[in-house]
Amino acid sequence: MTLSKSFVAERERAEGCTHVLLITTGSVASIKAPLIVAELLHYQNVIIEVVSTKASLEFFDTKEIVKAGSRVWTDEDEWTGGYRIGDPILHIELRRWADIILIAPCSANTLSKIAHGLCDNLVTSLLRALAPTTPTYVFPAMNTLMYEHPLTAEHLRVVRDVVKYHVVGPIGKNLACGDVGLGAMTEWKDIVQIVVNKFNLVRKEKTSST
Ligand SMILES: Cc1cc2nc3c(=O)[nH]c(=O)nc-3n(C[C@H](O)[C@H](O)[C@H](O)COP(=O)(O)O)c2cc1C
Repeated sequence: MTLSKSFVAERERAEGCTHVLLITTGSVASIKAPLIVAELLHYQNVIIEVVSTKASLEFFDTKEIVKAGSRVWTDEDEWTGGYRIGDPILHIELRRWADIILIAPCSANTLSKIAHGLCDNLVTSLLRALAPTTPTYVFPAMNTLMYEHPLTAEHLRVVRDVVKYHVVGPIGKNLACGDVGLGAMTEWKDIVQIVVNKFNLVRKEKTSST
């Protein structure tokens, strides 16, 4: 199935649907993105778009997201080389579209960029242009020493207290890098549950083929 890569919020928003924008960044935990998408799409009236940094694309196959029924947007979709005045601007359209934003996982790098107001890629541009009324959840995921670095605490403070995002996790476990400790992303099922609870989502009826 080929899905359109042009995006205009007004056309893409559907009456009665919950529009979930999942941002993935360069942590190994991005491997969970297809699971989050597939699980959320088991609920009625949910539409998901995924926006990924270049680094996060190392960790999952975008085809899996498409197979689940969603799309992945990257810097290449923003900078197409053919912009004309009046054309829709992708980072603005995506933030107009979203009812909720999940930054799952949030790398130390993207966390730092958000805390400093940087907007040098599709992910951070859309976050910088976001209305403060759009609920935004940050799920940090990084090596334990990255997490324990004093700058991380400061960036999380700014993101929580100044930018007013919800910070959830990280949790402690055996990390992919071999360290044991705090730094892992909140379990992907718990991330899905946050959206389910917030919007009172109802699971689709099971059919014999599923
Ligand atoms: C194999 C591998 C795993 C990585 N895992 C993490 C991680 O879990 N958390 C993190 O903050 N950075 C991790 N990094 C480093 C980030 O990918 C790097 O800082 C990158 O610039 C992040 O870019 P982004 O924030 O634009 O996605 C990892 C790098 C590699 C090569």
